Amino acid sequence: MRFQDTMSYLIRLLKIKFFNNGFPFVVRWDITARCPMQCRYCDIWKLKIKELNTATILRIIDEMAQEGVKKISFSGGEPLLREDICEIVHYTKAKGISAEINSTGYSFADKAERLKSLDLIKLSLDGPKEIHDVVRGREGAYDSVIDAALAAKKQRIPFRFCVTLSGYNIQYVGFLLQLARDCEAKIVFQPLKDIRYLKHCSFIFKTEEQLFPAPEQFQKAIHMLLKCCKEERRLISNSPQTLRHIYYWPKYAKLKCWAGKIFCMISPSGEISPCDRLFYDVQLPNCAQTSFRQAVTMMPRLPFCEGCGFWGSLVLNYAANFKADLELLRKAAQC
Ligand SMILES: C[S@@+](CC[C@H](N)C(=O)[O-])C[C@H]1O[C@@H](n2cnc3c(N)ncnc32)[C@H](O)[C@@H]1O
Ligand code: SF4
Repeated sequence: MRFQDTMSYLIRLLKIKFFNNGFPFVVRWDITARCPMQCRYCDIWKLKIKELNTATILRIIDEMAQEGVKKISFSGGEPLLREDICEIVHYTKAKGISAEINSTGYSFADKAERLKSLDLIKLSLDGPKEIHDVVRGREGAYDSVIDAALAAKKQRIPFRFCVTLSGYNIQYVGFLLQLARDCEAKIVFQPLKDIRYLKHCSFIFKTEEQLFPAPEQFQKAIHMLLKCCKEERRLISNSPQTLRHIYYWPKYAKLKCWAGKIFCMISPSGEISPCDRLFYDVQLPNCAQTSFRQAVTMMPRLPFCEGCGFWGSLVLNYAANFKADLELLRKAAQC
């Protein structure tokens, strides 16, 4: 994120705060449910969801640009599996919207040259090869991440490693930090979320005990990250404030959430929701069947929520609550 983007975010946040005219300007868009991985903590790959066609996606992007959306983070599933991903990214950029991709790195090396205009690729990394491949349920998954990082570097595409902290990798935080140093990359850590609200996923969290680190293991890892934040400010994207927020995982510090007001999410079939807690669970308005503006105004409110440790939401929520310390703003500006 450039300095002028940070300033325009701040202006939008001030307007929302003082004129109460919230309208999402950051969107996470799961453009496909297809995925080459079978992660221990996610089973979106099992879903058979009819995806939007290219023309509909471009029409929605047009409308987003008109409504002042600043950033779209394409996610999934594996967004790089969509054959039109390069066209979608180019179109987003041509409309003046910042484009990011959340990815396993799968097939990125083949497409990197055509994705040069990306603002950021966030590469999921869950530990050393033997851990990453087990968590991702696919041999060669780790190699895809490293190949993608090298390709991003070659094409000068900004990239960042994203770690989902779980019982499998909690003791490998030191390794992950060193890998990021070696690759001259930034790294961000997020806790595992219990997606029990997704009916089809609830079995995972009942049967996969190994996913959950002991609280003391988790806190030890956060201590290490806090220390690293102090000593190597540019390495970790988390700020001390957001790390303290997740310290007592799975309980979180209290924080007003602005889901649906400053950010929202879209499912592969075009359903729009304040956050992914509602996906697949309730009837949602669909951006393919109505305009983006109309779909946003029809979005249901979130029911009671105990909070989350999703970094993207935390940065925006701390900023919107004007609780952001300077460190957090600086880190957001460096994204
Ligand atoms: C849903 S994936 C989609 C993009 C791509 N397939 C990937 O894995 O990077 C986006 C991020 O969400 C994380 N994720 C998936 N399930 C999660 C869960 N139950 N709790 C926390 N993070 C999760 C993944 O590790 C990944 O970093
Ligand atoms: S790679 Fe991403 S979308 Fe695919 S199963 Fe894993 S977390 Fe889910």
